[in-house]
Amino acid sequence: MTTPEGSGTPTSPTLTPAGEGSPELLALLAEIAAKVPPACERFAEAKDLAQLEEFRIEVLGKKGVLTEMNARMGALTPTEKPIAGKLLNNHKAQVIHALNARKDALEAAALANSLQAESVDVTLPGVRPRSGHLHPITQTTLEIVKIFQGMGFRVESGPEIETEWFNFEALNVPADHPARDMQDTFYTERNCVLRTHTSPTQLRSMMRIAPPLAVITTGRVFRCDSDATHSPMFHQMEGLYIDRKVSMAHLKGVLNEFIRAYYGPNIKTRFRPSFFPFTEPSAELDIQSDVVRGGWMEVLGCGMVHPTVLRNAGLDPAEWSGFAFGLGIDRLAMIKYGINDIRLLTENDMRFLRQF
Ligand code: PHE
Repeated sequence: MTTPEGSGTPTSPTLTPAGEGSPELLALLAEIAAKVPPACERFAEAKDLAQLEEFRIEVLGKKGVLTEMNARMGALTPTEKPIAGKLLNNHKAQVIHALNARKDALEAAALANSLQAESVDVTLPGVRPRSGHLHPITQTTLEIVKIFQGMGFRVESGPEIETEWFNFEALNVPADHPARDMQDTFYTERNCVLRTHTSPTQLRSMMRIAPPLAVITTGRVFRCDSDATHSPMFHQMEGLYIDRKVSMAHLKGVLNEFIRAYYGPNIKTRFRPSFFPFTEPSAELDIQSDVVRGGWMEVLGCGMVHPTVLRNAGLDPAEWSGFAFGLGIDRLAMIKYGINDIRLLTENDMRFLRQF
């Protein structure tokens, strides 16, 4: 044995001087020299683990080159067998070493690849969750409430299902008034209605709070009506001021102040005579608006609280007087934001709502 132990590179079959040994041995030695080094080089060329496995079978498998050479040892003489066996084992070790080296390299590359592919760039900006906001009607409501609170009004509320008495009778709306028609009003059971306006809270407030009082109410109201400018459910704000010797001048002062605070100081207003059963005299307040190209636009109804209404609330009209007003919040929001169809406000289309 001339091959140094552990050199790892057994090469030519120097253990037998050239020409010595049986023809089988010589043939085997020649074949080892011819086939093993190319096999090792081939492993290095495997492009992935699957291909490497194919090559391994070609060399080390049941019908592999090395296995076949091993089988041919049977034809050698007893003295040649261990020599050839040792040599073959050394080469086999060399082959396995080359195979494992390639396997390690391919596995490392696969790992590096998947690390690369699955890597997370922690420096990328995060995906910000979209934050919600208040509905345009709620925004408008809060804005209006804030202005009136600034003038000393307090916020009261009333039920959406009202008795006919609070919604109509107490407000001096006679039984044959068209507003009481089934066509205009949603009736529920036991003489109740879905309130058609926020005015019933005038009564409820006067009965709950001793005068002088200044209250506002905001909330939903309902009427059998539906088109681009009418919705079966919409929103109103009601205002009521009760004191001794209240006049139309107080009413105009408060409402002009409100309109300027809401639309800006240069907006023009006018009070136009009107009629409501629960106020006397009654008026409608118009504003001159760019939205209607400088034309006049009605924004609210108002008037001096009718003596019958005061009496119905238990107040003496000889001592107490007051003014009331009611406005459509949807309408105000539509004017302010240039919305042309009231139904957009309740359709919950995010493309619409996100604009506010
Ligand atoms: N309630 C009336 C309406 O719905 C508005 C209004 C309120 C008018 C208070 C005068 C006084 O149209």
